[in-house]
Amino acid sequence: MFQSFGSSSDIQYYEIVCKNHKREFLHKFAEFEESVVINMYYPEELIEEIRQKNDIVDVISGYVALQKKGSNYMCCCPFHGEKTPSFSVSRSRQIFKCFGCGEGGSVLTFVMKYENCTYIEAIKILAERAGVELPQAEYSEETKKRENRRKMLLEVNKEAAKFYYYQLRTPRGAKAKEYLDNRRLTDETLKNFGLGYAPVKGEELITYLKGKGFTDEIIRDSGLAKVSEKRGMVTQFWNRVMYPIQDINGRVIGFGGRIMGSDDGGPKYINSPETDIFDKSRNLYGMNYARKSRAGNIILCEGYMDVISMHQAGFTQAVASLGTAFTPGQANVIKKYTKDVLLAYDSDGAGIKAALKAIKILSAAGMSARIINMSPYKDPDEFMKNLGREAFQERIDNAENSFMFEIRMLEREYNLEDPEGKTNFHNQIARRLCDFTEDIERENYIEAVADKYNIGFDRLRKLVVNMAASTGGYGEVTLHQPEIKTGINSRNRSNPEENAKKAQRLLLTWLTDYPELYQKIKKYISPEDFVVELYSKVAKRMFEDIEKGQFNPAQIINTFEDGNDQREASLLFTTKLDDLESEQEKEKAFHDILVSVKRNSYEYYSARSGVDIMALNKMIEDKKALEELNRTHISLN
Ligand code: CTP
Ligand code: MN
Repeated sequence: MFQSFGSSSDIQYYEIVCKNHKREFLHKFAEFEESVVINMYYPEELIEEIRQKNDIVDVISGYVALQKKGSNYMCCCPFHGEKTPSFSVSRSRQIFKCFGCGEGGSVLTFVMKYENCTYIEAIKILAERAGVELPQAEYSEETKKRENRRKMLLEVNKEAAKFYYYQLRTPRGAKAKEYLDNRRLTDETLKNFGLGYAPVKGEELITYLKGKGFTDEIIRDSGLAKVSEKRGMVTQFWNRVMYPIQDINGRVIGFGGRIMGSDDGGPKYINSPETDIFDKSRNLYGMNYARKSRAGNIILCEGYMDVISMHQAGFTQAVASLGTAFTPGQANVIKKYTKDVLLAYDSDGAGIKAALKAIKILSAAGMSARIINMSPYKDPDEFMKNLGREAFQERIDNAENSFMFEIRMLEREYNLEDPEGKTNFHNQIARRLCDFTEDIERENYIEAVADKYNIGFDRLRKLVVNMAASTGGYGEVTLHQPEIKTGINSRNRSNPEENAKKAQRLLLTWLTDYPELYQKIKKYISPEDFVVELYSKVAKRMFEDIEKGQFNPAQIINTFEDGNDQREASLLFTTKLDDLESEQEKEKAFHDILVSVKRNSYEYYSARSGVDIMALNKMIEDKKALEELNRTHISLN
């Protein structure tokens, strides 16, 4: 009966098996239903009320120490590692902005980002802070649809997880079970992680899921199957041990599948593709358990198997990325729970490289990293099998500080027998030590490094001082700084599209600073001139608000639910205006920007005027406006 799965009696049988396993396994997935977060819709006036009752300076002061500088408040950015403040908060505009990493937005954006939560959650936090009562939520049509789809995708993954789980416990899952037994996973662990087996005939999964009422479309969108022209629906996984990947709430969002043994051909692991519910850059394997661990730290491993054997040994704070390199998004997820991260990466070359990258990402997120020495074993899984939990705990206690680890790895690149190699190594160390801006911290590291590498404290210190003098002082070298995502990157200077966008941003920033200018230019300018959709939305809203005499940037930012949109929108109000001295210079700059936006609009619509009558009209209008602008002087007063 296990050969053909899909007849109704099989399904009934399956249900019974699953029911019997319920106490052991299905309760692991029971949280799924409860934790489905439904996006809700609140009326804009209410969101605005909440915003008004949460002054941005007050709120942000509750998280970080702000210092008044001129009309703004400054501090070191909580969203990227920095030692000199470039994070600015404006009380008058009710927005924040980091000139280092480009983060920016309203008080809502800040809370979303800092608390790593959704738009709705941020509204709830702020409503509570201000004592505003939230009504029973309404749902917008679009949200409902999106949420339904997400729910279906979660459902289909959950069913697939149950199917695989069941298959592992049938006779034809015997080989897989044997494989896992050989890897010394206990039945308890198999249950805990919901491990399963994808049978040789992958299509059985599809039959089963269809029997449960899932459509082809949902099955395909879940990444469990692809459509092939020749063979119809083809499953992603067959004849593999299956690892369901759960999100932080324990819902199955994807799978990893491993071949059993090493000579079966094909890649060792196959993973689900990214889907609407499977974002590999923001989820971590094992995080649903790790977040409940009381260890006070997180152990970051490379592989699923490492996480599983660590948990089995009692280290339930172990997590791993999902078949991709560790990302800043994952760092942010971890940061919500702890800033103390231990790296348990493989001890081979690739593992070291990955660890060095992870250290950079963690430190950019303001977290510390310590490196666990696994030698003589390759990875935590092997270590645990051979030396066991106490030995591993010792390794945790003796984990190496990330800076010392980086220096030790650097050492391998130099031939220290050779005086030149040695000199270069010492210079490199000095350069790295310059990154510390805090005197005490730097001195402590100089001491530690001098000690370890027999350099002599005074000698190394002198080297560091000289290095700082010749490279422009202490602090991170620009090279190390995270890539700035403002879009006004110098790399883009010659990019016409980027220039056009920048002009549009500048114009909106000008109007933010001088809303009264709008009356003078409104005959020339319309929201359609802003050819980027988001910009156009912002402009439309901004112009309406200015007309009504109630323009407020933060309120406009809050109309966007998505954090990225909020950041984009905030750029429109905070693009850096050149420091211009004279009134004349300012007028010229403003005029240039206006003309630039208008010309870009003209070019945009003339490119479309052949097919679109609206575009043709717009182009003619733009042309007239441009001619008029060329003859017109717009005074700023
Ligand atoms: N990985 C992958 N695809 C591969 C190889 C690896 O997606 N072809 C990912 C998996 O997430 C895997 C991780 O990289 O867990 C680490 O790889 P590795 O150390 O080789 O795997 P382990 O999980 O340690 O598995 P095992 O011990 O069974 O080899
Ligand atoms: Mn491994």
